[in-house]
Amino acid sequence: MGVKILAIETSCDETAAAVVVDGVKILSNIISSQVDVHRKFGGVVPEVASRKHLELVNPVIREALIAAGLDFTGLDAVAVTYGPGLVGALLVGVAAAKAMAFALDIPLIGVNHLEGHIYANFLVRPDLPFPLVCLVVSGGHTDLVLIRHHGDYVLLGSTRDDAAGEAFDKVARVLGLGYPGGPLIDRLARDGDEEAVDLPRSYLEEGSLDFSFSGLKSAVINHLHRCRQQGEEADRAHMAASFQKAVVDVLTAKTLEAARRYGCSTIILAGGVAANSRLRSLLDARARQEGRRLFYPPPVLCTDNAAMIACAAYYRYLRGEESPLTLNAVPHLSI
Ligand code: KG4
Ligand code: ZN
Repeated sequence: MGVKILAIETSCDETAAAVVVDGVKILSNIISSQVDVHRKFGGVVPEVASRKHLELVNPVIREALIAAGLDFTGLDAVAVTYGPGLVGALLVGVAAAKAMAFALDIPLIGVNHLEGHIYANFLVRPDLPFPLVCLVVSGGHTDLVLIRHHGDYVLLGSTRDDAAGEAFDKVARVLGLGYPGGPLIDRLARDGDEEAVDLPRSYLEEGSLDFSFSGLKSAVINHLHRCRQQGEEADRAHMAASFQKAVVDVLTAKTLEAARRYGCSTIILAGGVAANSRLRSLLDARARQEGRRLFYPPPVLCTDNAAMIACAAYYRYLRGEESPLTLNAVPHLSI
């Protein structure tokens, strides 16, 4: 029994569908990544992503239902990411979800992609205590969010330029590591010295909970240029480690500051960069020193997936929050 929600996620370059019961029990979680298609371009090409989603959305939904041992009849609601993201990509998922909700006569629940990332935490730990501070760090976002209750969010700060994941991807590109860069830098950094290269950390004005990573990115590029001009080859592992530490230092300091300011004894991480091993270890150690606890989802639930969307939708379902069948994609939707 329980509330069975099928969720669809097509906001960027993963076509994903999942069935989750009561926001905790994952019956299926299918993720078809387009990374190989976009790799040769060094990043996601929106038009290519939309076309791939169109090809993949029906087979991925079918696979999620089969893996869950269901046919179309056993569902209580259908959920979908309706923003933020690439408009053409979002529209594919939204159209598929609307068609299902209409045909099956079940509620349609539109979910904010960032809310979905946050709920990856509740998927594995439904009893997290409020208030919580969540650091949402992905390819498109770097947000500090105060969560007072389910569905009650206050945006405390966000990036003024590059998102953390974007900075990882761009630096990986200039280091010639490939795409997506975050996991590659994470791995390479283990062989490097994080004190080797002196890089700037931008904390912005006193007390600000906003972020800025473009200066750091430029510093990395300038350092590599200087090395090349001097006929030297920069040590890539040292650079990866030093860059990663600079990002993680700022993320850690601001997240702890938010937790102190809003009296949160629990901190959670969300989004693709939440899979970063250095961010996890440093924030965990610093949080413990202050008597706070850090939680994060397993890596497969940190990056884009539909199980997290189903979980966020479950709490909306409990509150009776349905979306109309006129639901549209909202590319710049904020939390
Ligand atoms: O949340 P996500 O899958 O997609 C967006 O909503 O953007 O995040 C993808 C981002 C990419 O920038 C990727 O490089 C980064 O997450 N990422 C990582 C790691 N794993 C993924 N960044 C740093 N360390 C990692 N281990
Ligand atoms: Zn995402």
